[in-house]
Amino acid sequence: MGETLPQKLPVHLGIIMDGNGRWAKRRGLPRSAGHAAGAANFKKITRYCASIGIRYLTVYAFSTENWTRPAEEVSALMVLFRQYLDEALRDFRDDEIAVRFLGDVSAFPKKLQELIRETEEISVGRTGMVLNIAMNYGGRAELTHAFRTLAQKVKDGSLAPEEVTEETISSALYTAGQPDPDLIIRPSGEHRTSNFLLWQSAYAEYVVMDILWPDFRPEDLNAALWEYANRSRRFGGV
Ligand code: IPE
Ligand code: IPE
Ligand code: MG
Repeated sequence: MGETLPQKLPVHLGIIMDGNGRWAKRRGLPRSAGHAAGAANFKKITRYCASIGIRYLTVYAFSTENWTRPAEEVSALMVLFRQYLDEALRDFRDDEIAVRFLGDVSAFPKKLQELIRETEEISVGRTGMVLNIAMNYGGRAELTHAFRTLAQKVKDGSLAPEEVTEETISSALYTAGQPDPDLIIRPSGEHRTSNFLLWQSAYAEYVVMDILWPDFRPEDLNAALWEYANRSRRFGGV
């Protein structure tokens, strides 16, 4: 599919994996079936991104607000996370994909936390695409966490107040050391950030697509990449 890609690709791509519930509803299935289909598609699209040379991929899998969903939906998601991380541990090895997690993972069940730690450990030294999985992630929670870290440093004297800069804030975020996202794709047609990468997306290009995440194919990603390539990014300049 290489010939269908533009020259200029985003270095860092973000995807808000939205629309699983509506996908299931349209088929008369429980929402959990939509999440299962979405999780399968996550694996497929992740490997596709690695194959075309995306350097950083951040997927939004579970927000700090998603805990407010019915308990049975949340627990179905926890089961899926375990299953897919287990599979990812094996499947992403050949692609040299390095997995990291954005968010407060201490809120997850113990077994899932162990799997998260194991996934990060075996990713050390991998040279391929960096895959950030945002789980129990919220942009506001991330910024709050960062400000608290910096405030503590100021308090104990290791940081001066004037050293609270855009750079030190960036380096206190979960994405420390990574470039900001260039392009954020939101399938499912919703025109909002839903608390995703608030600080980092200051100059990201947004592409909203009227397609539900389980139906989102590599061809749809290519279409978004073309739209991105044809945009003029000015970063406040002329
Ligand atoms: C995204 O799909 C998955 C998560 C938020 C975990 P949704 O479950 O939000 O699907 P819709 O938006 O209800 O269709
Ligand atoms: C955003 O989708 C979070 C994820 C895709 C993980 P939501 O479905 O939670 O967002 P809202 O509620 O439509 O804003
Ligand atoms: Mg949704």
